[in-house]
This record gives sequence, structure tokens and C-alpha cells, in this order.
Amino acid sequence: MSRAEPRARILRFDSLESTNKKARELAEAGEPEGTVVVARIQTGGRGRMGRRWFSPPGGLWFSVVLRPQIPPAQAPVLGLLTGVAVARALKGLYRLESRLKWPNDVLIQGKKVCGVLTELSVRGEILDHVIVGVGINASFPLALLPSELWARTTTIQELLGRTIELEPLLYRVVEELDKRYLEFVGGKTRGILEEWRALSETLGRKVRVDTLEEAVEGLAEDIDASGALLIKTAKGPVRVMAGDCVHLE
Ligand code: BTN
Repeated sequence: MSRAEPRARILRFDSLESTNKKARELAEAGEPEGTVVVARIQTGGRGRMGRRWFSPPGGLWFSVVLRPQIPPAQAPVLGLLTGVAVARALKGLYRLESRLKWPNDVLIQGKKVCGVLTELSVRGEILDHVIVGVGINASFPLALLPSELWARTTTIQELLGRTIELEPLLYRVVEELDKRYLEFVGGKTRGILEEWRALSETLGRKVRVDTLEEAVEGLAEDIDASGALLIKTAKGPVRVMAGDCVHLE
């Protein structure tokens, strides 16, 4: 188990509106790849699909600036590999067994412990940078979150029955992320997709995915090399690139 500080440049803040927002500002001002922005609390944490992300003290809220030279359509794989990295870190540090809900929620005992928000900046056909934001419900009681979230959310503190240190968790997640990111930009995506499939709670289940345009319902059969979910519906196979996934059975 490595506790060494990663090579990444880590910028720490007490309070930010959103680490994704700060990381994006830095990236637009030329911040190099690999910089990590961490905040003790976020006052306007952002979730996927325009939702709010509650970010009390004790959580691990951070974003990474990446500049992969890949077609924008490949970018969803970054979210998948981040989910895998978090799952590996939680297993390595605390022996917690996570499962992944497409596209990149990390669940433990069926409840969400981590969410990932990937935001792309595209110039023409070219990806300028990607901000990968990670929110881990780490060392705080569930009571700090709104009660409507309690049934489907958990925290590491609740699971272990004790508080945890955030720094070793940050370093471990960044290390696991770095390893897989280098594989990905080196063209080795297959192993990452295999890891995701092995941890998946979504594949093989009946799902409904709410995209911005429509709801797609059917059997989640696989993911493809771009990270899209392949769903067998009554009308035939459908490939979904982004959306909100609900497990129906
Ligand atoms: C989700 O909806 O599941 C994604 C949640 C992502 C939250 C993290 S916390 C750090 C980073 N900054 C944000 O504003 N959002 C992400």
C-alpha cells in the first residue's frame, strides 16, 4: 500500500464553489495536465445532469485537469476508468467491495458512495482539456446530507464505523487514476473496460436510461470501446452515450 504523495501538483483550498469550476478556470489559463484541485468544502458542488452535489466537510472533493489527445467521443472512458480507480482504492485501503453503476457511480451495499463528473472543453473537433471531478462521501455521517438522499447514499464513515484520513485516500485514488489514464492514452483501453465490466452492477440487468432526449428501457448487455451502454430493447439494440441509469430489477 503506497502512501507516498503522488507526482501530481495538488492545489488545496478551504472552500470553493466547485473544484470542477476552479480546475476549468485554471485549465483555460493554461494549467498543465495532472493538476489536482481539492477543496475541504464546496458551496456549489455540481452533480451530473445539472444536479446539485452536497459537499460537507469530511468529504473528498477534487478535480483533475487532463489533456488527452483523443477524439471527444472517447472521453466517456475517462469517467469509467475513474470509477474503477475509486473502487480499487476503497478495496486497497479499507477492504470495501464496490460495484459500479453505469456510467460512473461507485456503490457499496447498493448505495452511492462516490460520483464522477467529467466535463469536456472542445475546440472544433479537438479536445482541449477534460476536467474529471470526483466526489467521495468519505469521513462524515450521513446526517450531514439532506434526508431525501439517505436511502440511496452512504459514506465510508458509516460503512466502517469510524472516521478516516482524507490525504491517503486522495493519494491512492490519484495513483490508481494515473495508472489507468496512462494506459488509456497509450491506447490500452481493453483492460480498463474489462475491469469496469467485472465491477459492474449494471450489466445483465433491466435498466432505464433517461437521456436528454428520451428514456431507453431494456437489458443492459455491454459497454463499447467508447464507454457507451448497449441496451437490448423491445425495438432492437440501442447505444446510449450519456444519461441517468436506473436499475429496474
Ligand atoms: C454525480 O452526479 O454523481 C457526480 C458528482 C460529482 C461531484 C464532484 S465533487 C468534486 C467535483 N466538483 C464538483 O462540483 N463536482 C465534482
